[in-house]
Amino acid sequence: MGWTERLQHWLQSLFSGEPGGRRIPERLEYAAPAEDETPVMPISGGRGAGGQPAIAFRRNAVFAAFNTAVPVSDRHGLAGRKKELARLIDAVVKQRKHALIYGARGSGKTSLARVFGDLADEAGCVALYGSASEGADVDGLFRPFLDELPLQRGIAASIPADKPLGIQQIANLFVQGVNQRTLLIVDEFDRVAAERTRHEVASLLKLLTDMHSTVQIVLVGIAGNVDGLLAAHPSLRRHLAAQPVAPIERDELAGLLRLCAQQAGLSFEEEAVQTIVSAAIGSPYHARLFGMHAALNAEAAGRDRIVLADAQKGLAEALAEWSDLTPDMCRVFERALAQAGSLRGMIALAGVLAAHAPILTFERLTAAGTDLFGEELGGATAVDRTIGLIAPALTEDGMPGELQFADSLSPQFLVLMANGAARTRDAASVARDTLDARELLQGVGL
Ligand SMILES: Nc1ncnc2c1ncn2[C@@H]1O[C@H](COP(=O)(O)OP(=O)(O)O)[C@@H](O)[C@H]1O
Ligand SMILES: [Mg+2]
Repeated sequence: MGWTERLQHWLQSLFSGEPGGRRIPERLEYAAPAEDETPVMPISGGRGAGGQPAIAFRRNAVFAAFNTAVPVSDRHGLAGRKKELARLIDAVVKQRKHALIYGARGSGKTSLARVFGDLADEAGCVALYGSASEGADVDGLFRPFLDELPLQRGIAASIPADKPLGIQQIANLFVQGVNQRTLLIVDEFDRVAAERTRHEVASLLKLLTDMHSTVQIVLVGIAGNVDGLLAAHPSLRRHLAAQPVAPIERDELAGLLRLCAQQAGLSFEEEAVQTIVSAAIGSPYHARLFGMHAALNAEAAGRDRIVLADAQKGLAEALAEWSDLTPDMCRVFERALAQAGSLRGMIALAGVLAAHAPILTFERLTAAGTDLFGEELGGATAVDRTIGLIAPALTEDGMPGELQFADSLSPQFLVLMANGAARTRDAASVARDTLDARELLQGVGL
């Protein structure tokens, strides 16, 4: 077995067999992705109408179906999140805890939070969404909710418009002014850089718990662990449900891809789906992105079926596009791989591990490396060299020894590069196709 196969094998064992355990209410059941892949009619109802070529409609349908820019808001479109939803419902709706939803960029945090809000709403809570902005203090984080908050009559007039609200005031307002169960979902909380604000938010959560507030807070942000977002008081931990946004399992990602294809009037050959699922390493963002490129290739060839060659070409195109947009990171990876020699597999492994859980430690990489490649190629010395090679792409802003890729979307591309995806086609055709893709994307509103 080559290292790629071994890695795949090892990954599959990682993904499989985790017992679900938790109950899930009946209504959370999703429509299973269609088993047969009979293409449905494309969304382009008026094909050929208005003098436009039918092909443009189909392309637009591909862009719409595989869109990577819009979070999922419909529960039926949310793949592989039953366990997360059940845990959030249990902790937040039933046990009345606050929650923290965290994970990598593109892992599906906003999508999960939206669908969860929707379900909580159905369960009788008012769910309100907001987004943190850089430099916001607690007033900046919570004041925007006041307009929509179900405040008792007369309370709104007592809120000072010209002075920032402090945490005690906000807590009093929530406790005395709101008697309906309300969830405030604060997305992009990672943008709040000030330690002081993060600390104050933790104190506010604690105050709200102590005061038996009917208002609960759900924070959402990019982080590798709880400490990355919130320097939570130890006593807060009991009242805070930390919900990591884990990689999506292979079958669920495959189902998602089939569904997207179906919406665009296309269908996937099984090998093509599996190739994309492998490259996405659990990430819905990458699955959609790679799927879109593959679908465009099938479409360009005038086929309804997305075949393996479309998927392979799509991966190379997605990689080329990423390297155009992130040239510095790409150069770091190129250099690392060029110097890696027998450590190529270890570099890919670092990408795979980071795609699974963003925080890389020497220990984690050593354990997996030894497991996979043995002591010589995967042990401590090999790990030191591997980390050294990719160091310029890593940051260490949490705890010492906890490394993360500065660009949390990049690990999948590193793995593609290590797999040699860029070398499957000559540079000129990559450049040409990327240009095509770019032209196509203009004005589509992605
Ligand atoms: N569970 C899921 N099922 C299907 N698509 C998903 C899922 N989670 C995320 N996506 C898609 O992946 C992309 C990134 O999702 P998003 O929720 O915005 O991630 P994040 O907030 O973590 O950056 C979006 O296109 C979204 O539609
Ligand atoms: Mg988001």
